[in-house]
Amino acid sequence: MADPDLTPLFAPLAIGGVTLRNRFVMPAMQIGFTENCGPSPRTIDYLRARAEGGVGLIFSESCAPDHPSGYWQAAFCVMNRETRGRWAELAEAIRGAGAAFAIQLWHPGGQRRPVEGFAHADAPTLSPSGLIQAGREGGRAMTRDEMDDIAAAFVRAAEDARAIGADGVELHCAHGYLMDQFLWAETNVRDDGYGGPAIADRARYPLAVAAAIRQALGPDALLSLRFSQFKEVDYGARVFETPEELAEFGALARAAGVSMLNVSSRRFGKPEWPDLEQGLGIAGWVRRLAGLPVMTTGSIGLSSDIFADLFDGEDPGLRVAADLAELTRRFGAGEFDLVGVGRMHIANADFVEKVRAGRFDDLRLYNKKVDLQHLMAQVVPGAVEESRKTAAV
Ligand SMILES: Cc1cc2nc3c(=O)[nH]c(=O)nc-3n(C[C@H](O)[C@H](O)[C@H](O)COP(=O)(O)O)c2cc1C
Repeated sequence: MADPDLTPLFAPLAIGGVTLRNRFVMPAMQIGFTENCGPSPRTIDYLRARAEGGVGLIFSESCAPDHPSGYWQAAFCVMNRETRGRWAELAEAIRGAGAAFAIQLWHPGGQRRPVEGFAHADAPTLSPSGLIQAGREGGRAMTRDEMDDIAAAFVRAAEDARAIGADGVELHCAHGYLMDQFLWAETNVRDDGYGGPAIADRARYPLAVAAAIRQALGPDALLSLRFSQFKEVDYGARVFETPEELAEFGALARAAGVSMLNVSSRRFGKPEWPDLEQGLGIAGWVRRLAGLPVMTTGSIGLSSDIFADLFDGEDPGLRVAADLAELTRRFGAGEFDLVGVGRMHIANADFVEKVRAGRFDDLRLYNKKVDLQHLMAQVVPGAVEESRKTAAV
């Protein structure tokens, strides 16, 4: 085993009825191989190779439930009658190679950018309060009937995820999309009990959807909830202003039947409330306060974070040994249970096996021009970037 000693990261972990063979996770990442809103043979080969490369759990790229407001171009996945068979093939390939597999369920909310000529282009774009940031419009405020319809679509997608053989689902409540638009005070000013200054009100809808998904999945399946303090439109944003709000949310998430919290950050370990405790990152705070298994993510093995890399043109360098040493130290201190490795998994199918063998020098540096060329070519220009133009750095 390499130095640092990574043995603890290779211990299995049981979450409900799902046992992960180790602590490494591939988080949800669109890769550009999608065909007609579903996985293609190329998606299957790509993710099978990551499962064969040793990772414990793979989340699918974001997948919309089958609702007209949920997707807007063929490059984005949806769970429906046409795509179900391909999702089943993907689940079989990943699980056959020893990794667990969960489908990330996502809805863009006010970030939807309808593409003329594509299905449902005329459907309304929906969000909690017609906002994607304070003072920036995005969609129109959803009615309670529309909230019920979308919740029902999430439940159908979760039922499908189970039926096609996935180990569970992840509810995407991060990065400024629909569920995060509910969680964030800037984008949720509803006064019907589902919004406003109290975190319990803003969390009511996302956690009601989570509870309904849990019902549909049964008690043993994995139900991950992914959230982030930052938004793609505002890196400095916060859903939880204080540890107390975070603790309240954690208790509510547990009561809703969530089985793990996936904390998305730009850099793992970045101190969250340094005035209160100097070194503790957001994942560490969640682990301490929420009483659920926690996954950390953010720039593992790389010197720049995803947004500096994608939107500010900052090419990352490799930082494997130093990051793994820090990761091991924080893991040993009980700050998280699982480790999400994103871009380094795009560049290295066998990231986990190489790390296990201490072959750090054999890891390839991720390079967005090469590794994301299919995604950049596939996504209709302007359909995702427009929302980031005013991102505060
Ligand atoms: C090309 C690309 C696509 C992504 N797509 C998604 C997605 O569909 N859902 C999601 O929650 N996060 C998505 N992310 C964010 C990653 O899951 C991860 O949080 C981020 O890349 C940070 O981890 P890293 O620094 O190890 O790459 C994406 C990231 C990249 C690079």
